[in-house]
Amino acid sequence: MAASQPRIALITGATAGIGAATAARFAAAGWHLVLTGRRAERLDQAAKTLGVPVHGIVCDIDDHAATQKALGAIPPAFAAVEVLVNNAGHGIGTDRKFQEADLAEMHAIVETNIQAVLTVTRTLLPGMIARGKGHVIQIGSSFHRYPHPQSHVYGATKAFVENLTQALRAEVLGTGVRVSTVEAGLVKTEFVERRFRGNQELIAQRLGGLDTLLPEDVAECIFFCVSMPQRASVSRLELLMTDQAPGFMQLVRR
Ligand SMILES: NC(=O)c1ccc[n+]([C@@H]2O[C@H](COP(=O)([O-])OP(=O)(O)OC[C@H]3O[C@@H](n4cnc5c(N)ncnc54)[C@H](OP(=O)(O)O)[C@@H]3O)[C@@H](O)[C@H]2O)c1
Repeated sequence: MAASQPRIALITGATAGIGAATAARFAAAGWHLVLTGRRAERLDQAAKTLGVPVHGIVCDIDDHAATQKALGAIPPAFAAVEVLVNNAGHGIGTDRKFQEADLAEMHAIVETNIQAVLTVTRTLLPGMIARGKGHVIQIGSSFHRYPHPQSHVYGATKAFVENLTQALRAEVLGTGVRVSTVEAGLVKTEFVERRFRGNQELIAQRLGGLDTLLPEDVAECIFFCVSMPQRASVSRLELLMTDQAPGFMQLVRR
């Protein structure tokens, strides 16, 4: 009997946090991986330790031409990407209110959280459709569902991503390709370090005493979406801390 073909997942932003945990989850199930990120040493380390074949793509995902070129040069053994996890993202610039935030930093959030998602998805989706099989998973955020002070551009990019997910479902209807959004609440990753520029006092103020989600929790949700039978497509999956009710309480008393 012929050996079964390896299943291939491509995860953007796999050098840290949710992306790294997702790579580990898929590797544990024997998937072969294409991983992207800017930090080459972390991708090398993943290739050495995950125990499955890994093709690392070192690039700044904001550089759309370089990203497209790298995706076009994926070696044949990894080219039939079945699962795309659009994970790379950040919220740098949302440590201040919208009216005080740096405009260039706001644009940079849009660049990574929206433009790069368009670039990678537009590049890989036709292959999935041609193969009649695939799954695009977008990493969303509870920030878009429950806007609050300092969620501004970041939350709005995740609203875009969720809307795009639903539109894509309509676009690929009948092709066998599935599209899902996994929306997470607060997860303990480097995201918060970057967002608050390493200011430990501020980070402690925001996250101190909270039993936050771990990247592995989100990775498990992503893997769950993929593991559902082909007839079932998770449209949107929201994961919050047990200690959080929906939303962030905002009141002004006069
Ligand atoms: N942490 C949370 O509370 C939370 C909650 C909901 C949703 N999310 C979403 O989850 C996703 C992952 O975030 P995380 O919490 O795991 O953050 P993280 O630990 O900071 O990891 C972010 C990943 O994205 C990559 N990345 C960022 N900018 C990039 C760029 N311009 N080019 C290439 N790679 C880039 C980073 O890789 P390099 O630095 O090596 O490039 C890194 O691997 C993001 O989309 C985030 O919005 C996070």
